[in-house]
Amino acid sequence: MTKITKAVFPVAGLGSRFLPATKAQPKEMLPIVDKPLIQYAVEEAVAAGITEMIFITGRNKRAIEDHFDTAYELESELEAAGKTKLLEFARNVIPKHVNCVYIRQSAPLGLGHAVLCARPVVGDEPFAVILADDFMDVDQGRKNVLAQMTEVFEREGKSLLAVQNVPRNETRQYGIVSARPYQDRLDQVDAMVEKPLPENAPSTLAVVGRYILTPAIFDHLEGIGKGAGGEIQLTDGIVALMQEQAVLAYRYHGLRYDCGSKLGYLKATVAMGAKHPETGAAFTEYLRQWQDENTPQPALKLASAG
Ligand code: UTP
Repeated sequence: MTKITKAVFPVAGLGSRFLPATKAQPKEMLPIVDKPLIQYAVEEAVAAGITEMIFITGRNKRAIEDHFDTAYELESELEAAGKTKLLEFARNVIPKHVNCVYIRQSAPLGLGHAVLCARPVVGDEPFAVILADDFMDVDQGRKNVLAQMTEVFEREGKSLLAVQNVPRNETRQYGIVSARPYQDRLDQVDAMVEKPLPENAPSTLAVVGRYILTPAIFDHLEGIGKGAGGEIQLTDGIVALMQEQAVLAYRYHGLRYDCGSKLGYLKATVAMGAKHPETGAAFTEYLRQWQDENTPQPALKLASAG
């Protein structure tokens, strides 16, 4: 069965929910503790066996290319100062066997259009799509979400969408699928709608930022035109693909944080800060103290003598 070796990272969006932080820098460079979101996403892909990272970039995204490139001046300064640990951090952002390719999306025409921009490099192979602002935290000892998905793909050979249940009042933020049971944690998708109103949503099963797609998606993305929000939507491409091939929804093991939103980003920062090898213990202690100091005391009951 075909192995997935290529991952597409669409990073050309405007990140407008995070303004002004994203005015001059990509949201994918926002750090969770000490690593940018895009580095976590690339590490997830590397651990899933992927060796070709294809970034779909746009304006203000130079920092991503610089991040995965060698920083000669920084490295020689750190080397001269004997700061070996920091030097290691600067050098080991990406393993040597991994290739990075950057393709510019001329205008933010939508996620579907961004994925289509990867066609010349992906060619005729199944590939992964990772949205770095969907940050995934998986229990220690378990495979990361993309690795779980590549394993399923190698077994089933069908396009896969990572899904999770969301509260009904949040369906407007997601692509929502209706699906029927297929296997443990896997459903076969019958329909998919982009950002439906809660009353129109066919279910509460939401697609999140991990996909494995067969190359047949590209012809469909070329044909679909603008959809919701005037953008070329990946959802519409997948709906067209479903007319030709089965598409599966995979209920992954793990916890997702929507780091494209302020609240999700804060939650991820707290969760990872509390686990971090350097800061974890002190940060957890600080959180405990902070909670003690900031939790209003229950009003003292006046002792009544009856
Ligand atoms: P989002 O819907 O999160 O949009 O895109 P956004 O522009 O990044 O953020 P907001 O909503 O303005 O705050 C989902 C993913 O698709 C990419 C984004 O970079 C993000 O990873 N994308 C979106 C593109 O690469 N190109 C596009 O034209 C649109």
